[in-house]
Amino acid sequence: MPLARLEQQIAAQLAELEKTGTAKGRESIFTAVKPAREGHGPRFLLEGEGEREFIRMNSNSYLGLSLRPELLQAEERTAHAFGVGPGAVRFISGTTDPHVRLERALAEFHGREAAQLMGAAYTAVMGALVSLSTPETVLISDELNHNCIVNGMKLAPSKARKVYPHLDVLKLEAALAESAGAQGAIVITDGVFSMRGDHAPLDRIARICEKFDARFPRGVVFLVDDSHGVGGFGPTGRGTEEVTGGRADILIGTLGKAFGVNGGYIVCSAPVVSFLREKNPLYIYSNPIAAGEAAAALQSLQVLRGDAGAQLLAHLREMTQRFRDGLLELGFETIAGQHPVVPLLVRDTDKTRSLVAFLRKNGVLATGLNHPVVPKGEQLIRFQVNADHTAADIDEVLGVLSRFR
Ligand SMILES: Cc1ncc(COP(=O)(O)O)c(C=O)c1O
Repeated sequence: MPLARLEQQIAAQLAELEKTGTAKGRESIFTAVKPAREGHGPRFLLEGEGEREFIRMNSNSYLGLSLRPELLQAEERTAHAFGVGPGAVRFISGTTDPHVRLERALAEFHGREAAQLMGAAYTAVMGALVSLSTPETVLISDELNHNCIVNGMKLAPSKARKVYPHLDVLKLEAALAESAGAQGAIVITDGVFSMRGDHAPLDRIARICEKFDARFPRGVVFLVDDSHGVGGFGPTGRGTEEVTGGRADILIGTLGKAFGVNGGYIVCSAPVVSFLREKNPLYIYSNPIAAGEAAAALQSLQVLRGDAGAQLLAHLREMTQRFRDGLLELGFETIAGQHPVVPLLVRDTDKTRSLVAFLRKNGVLATGLNHPVVPKGEQLIRFQVNADHTAADIDEVLGVLSRFR
């Protein structure tokens, strides 16, 4: 019984998660998606719930692109041409024409020289941190950064890691000042913070990085993971950079949220991308997304750059505002912002759980976030508006919330 003692230990850990109400619990299984009809967006069927229909307020697909015919057709056509899987990592024989065209299009979309496609934004962040830091590089990070940054910092060879309070740029500046003398520094932040829908002041952080750049032989590199920003945030969907006017040296995004597909990417200068193709282990030794997925993502970019994209973004902004205004009218507390992640602050674990259950019982899927995912006292329900939602959908969700006691 080689696993017996391990199983005993992990059973105790699982029981503790259940006891403290912090277990993720059983995953909901979607069995069908019913297309939009009669003024309503798509509805979702779940295993064990029969024909009961749910509004999905917990999807990252902010533009509702993943079922769009252009994307489906592009993916199918390309899968017929190249197969459904890449067959090898990029440098062996896994690079296809859609991969390369998508890299060019992403670089162009973000106004950069080059892009590196990755299997996921999670590995994009980790790969960049591991490859671009040395043992003498100081890593400086916002305390609420995503788990991929936290783990990327652990995996990186750096000996010095500093964490500043959420959005506290003065503390970030102090951390850089006291690090002068190190070989280099990498300042890392999420663009949009996925739990709260607030965003980092990239303009101010970029200026601070510039101010300290000359004090480090390898410079101060500003790295932003804007997975929740790219595609769905900002007047043209260029994310937190567009909203704040600040620019990252290295920008990381996902194709698996607003773009509606799957995969991640890094955009920056051509020399850094060339270096990453040689040195980033999570790129070199791991398969890329399928050619069909790359073709679908190319279509996403095309939609986004056209009139349809502008309309989707405008509708998303309108629905987000409607939902925010509605929450406030009902007397709920939220966090100021313009992003389609709209938190409802509950500030209590039991109440968060019962409100999530009440929503589900009434056909609304939303995510409750408890400690340790969010700090104690900031327990919340994360609602995510997307461009599939209609005014009637938003009003239906608000109607359910208004009945909660
Ligand atoms: C800030 C941030 N970075 C990275 C990721 C991971 O993205 P992917 O699914 O492409 O790995 C997420 C997803 O939740 C995220 O919120």
